[in-house]
Amino acid sequence: MSAEPLLEAIDLHKRFGATPALDGLSLAIGGGEIVAVLGPSGSGKSTLLLCLAGILLADDGEVHYRGRSLAELSDGVRTRLRRDEFGFVFQFGQLVPELTAVDNVSLPLRLAGLTRRAAIARADDALTRLAVDDVRDKRAGEMSGGQGQRVAVARALASGPRVIFADEPTGSLDSANGEVVMELLVSAARDQGASIILVTHEPQIAAYADREVVVRDGRLAEVAAIT
Ligand SMILES: Nc1ncnc2c1ncn2[C@@H]1O[C@H](COP(=O)(O)OP(=O)(O)O)[C@@H](O)[C@H]1O
Ligand SMILES: [Mg+2]
Repeated sequence: MSAEPLLEAIDLHKRFGATPALDGLSLAIGGGEIVAVLGPSGSGKSTLLLCLAGILLADDGEVHYRGRSLAELSDGVRTRLRRDEFGFVFQFGQLVPELTAVDNVSLPLRLAGLTRRAAIARADDALTRLAVDDVRDKRAGEMSGGQGQRVAVARALASGPRVIFADEPTGSLDSANGEVVMELLVSAARDQGASIILVTHEPQIAAYADREVVVRDGRLAEVAAIT
């Protein structure tokens, strides 16, 4: 890891009413690094991911991205950061079911200002890399779970993000499909030099990461290097 982390959580605290979700959690992620976040249900993994992405603001503590505090950026700058430098994959894909694969992947690129032609070219490239170019013109609502998750990964990667936030990205898939999605996600991220924050409770999925951390009761429980 280079001297300066790409993304860093420093002593994060977050409560939802009386419920503490994060209780002094610190974590640094290097450029191009893949970090698996493990831990029991309710331990604060999703809250950590949302805070690292600047979607939720912590009550206390800071998140630094490329050396800048997210809380000090304007809402507009944070929104642009999420659009241009971050990619997201969730458990159930969150594709628009009425739109085709190519439209689901190209829509955010068009919103980011690319021409229709450029957005479609990039979407086609991402669909090919995720080996779902054969369902390019199929509506998301008519795809299998594995195809939909691969299209969701293509969408997350198509903008060339520096960081991919993946919250249980294989949680809705059987283990064979889960491994295919992970292999494609990891190889595409490595090609692009993107970091991945991978929330999962499946050890065989966490094994794709460079490093595992375990969250328990809103803080890191242990740090293990994977060899
Ligand atoms: N939006 C919310 N409103 C109220 N409580 C929440 C909210 N999000 C998370 N929590 C609570 O915060 C704790 C941590 O949740 P979460 O980060 O989703 O854990 P995990 O992803 O590890 O399952 C849990 O007790 C959960 O019920
Ligand atoms: Mg969660």
